[in-house]
Amino acid sequence: MSTWRDQIPTSGSLELPPDPRALEGLGRNHSLETALADLVDNSIDAGASHVLIRLVRLEGRLRALYVVDNGHGIPESKIDSAMTIGGQRSYSANDLGKFGLGLKTASFSQARSLTVISKARGSAAVGRRWLLDENRKGFHCDIIPTDFAEDEFNRKWDIEGVDTGTVIRWDNVTGFPATDDPKRVEEFISRTATALRNHLGLVFHKTIHAGKISIEIDVEDIETDASGARIPVESLNPFGYARSGQAGYPKELSAKIGDITLKFRCHIWPGRSVSPQFKLTGGPEARQGIYFYRRDRLLQAGEGWHGIHSSDRRLQLARIEVTIDDDIVRLFTMNPEKSKVNVGPEFTQLAEQAKAKDGTTFYDYLESAEQAFRESRKRSNGRRKMAPLGKGIAPELRKAIEREIPFDEDSEPIDIRWKRFSGEDFFEIDRDKRALWLNEKYRPNSKGERRSVNDTPLLKALLYLIVEELFRGDYLGVRDKDNIVLYQEILIAAAKSEQL
Ligand SMILES: Nc1ncnc2c1ncn2[C@@H]1O[C@H](COP(=O)(O)OP(=O)(O)OP(=O)(O)O)[C@@H](O)[C@H]1O
Ligand SMILES: [Mg+2]
Repeated sequence: MSTWRDQIPTSGSLELPPDPRALEGLGRNHSLETALADLVDNSIDAGASHVLIRLVRLEGRLRALYVVDNGHGIPESKIDSAMTIGGQRSYSANDLGKFGLGLKTASFSQARSLTVISKARGSAAVGRRWLLDENRKGFHCDIIPTDFAEDEFNRKWDIEGVDTGTVIRWDNVTGFPATDDPKRVEEFISRTATALRNHLGLVFHKTIHAGKISIEIDVEDIETDASGARIPVESLNPFGYARSGQAGYPKELSAKIGDITLKFRCHIWPGRSVSPQFKLTGGPEARQGIYFYRRDRLLQAGEGWHGIHSSDRRLQLARIEVTIDDDIVRLFTMNPEKSKVNVGPEFTQLAEQAKAKDGTTFYDYLESAEQAFRESRKRSNGRRKMAPLGKGIAPELRKAIEREIPFDEDSEPIDIRWKRFSGEDFFEIDRDKRALWLNEKYRPNSKGERRSVNDTPLLKALLYLIVEELFRGDYLGVRDKDNIVLYQEILIAAAKSEQL
């Protein structure tokens, strides 16, 4: 029999501080967007109402990135613990911070130099810097002299109420293009701004929508001392449909294990939506599944079913909201980058038991979502193509029509416009010019004031639906002609009674 000892003996201990290069390995799962989301978390925790993300360009090249907020700032007594890796503080119930890592890991994943300048109420600006340097020995954090800290803090940020706040500066950003070629730099800026708008707009959609925070992006050119137009990050609500894809939804399913209740808010999107909230980056197929929120911040956007079901094209309209409150927190773990949630074994069990008040189970829901998808496909496949619309249609109406009607690409677009007629007719079908003319005489409120060419959307939409088919074929049949007479008579009578 081999010997095995329960207790491990020791003969002394050594202090083995981590190699400073360990810093470089932090935050490997970050992208620029997720890293900046981590900094925005800190700004929100600091009570900021404005966050500015600024790229700085010098001699055509991007040199630095700033994240500036008007939060309560970091007092001198706390700045060293803020810069410490793993320097946790005491967190309140609504704080997004948890690990004491975010600022450092997010920054080191993107840049080789992190400078933090901050000003709390009633004190001068303080500053610290971490530099990733090959020759680094030990963990030495640099102290920024007060005058430079004040200067940085007082640069022209143009954000409201920055008597207190924090300026985070990254230099040597690894992802910046190593060129001053204006085309490549501009491309990078526009790609970055889009990625940031998509990611931050989604992650913070609740906070942005509630008006608690505004996040903007801009670029500063040092030579001209000018910063370009500010790009606002708009809220991108992954549940922001106008009308549910299935009657009775959203539905709340809940399940209990011991003292824990887990709630699944199950949504079904309307089919064929072209809205950016449905499409998201990655596309609707990749964005089906569970959306986890913690304190109004989205941790994971869809990306699957966490073992409850496998992803399936036919489930693309199904999205579920799960809020991870403190009392159910033990069912989940999130990665330090706060971009992924892992579920414990009880989670699938809870999903299997979950029921709505009307008895709907998780599988009933998935089936309804699949059915809604099938029906929406049937509807759109079965729809007859129509001629596209030309001038005279308001953009919102055009979008709504394009969402519903498949356009016939071989057909010339039809304009719908008002003009002066010599007679009493309500409308005229001009097949050669592809125009549906409406008699100015009947134009609502046409007296004196100039009207927009895109006016009367309701009337135009109805007429388009009724007379579009009269633009088809080589000639008008007897029945078509009779229909025209019929429509004219009724519309004239209607217009006259409206003008009485
Ligand atoms: N923009 C800011 N305004 C005010 N204080 C800040 C700001 N950014 C960081 N801090 C301070 O620095 C500390 C460290 O931030 P860091 O992001 O590293 O950790 P955390 O937010 O506490 O936890 P987590 O790792 O979950 O993000 C914060 O707890 C906060 O006190
Ligand atoms: Mg943080």
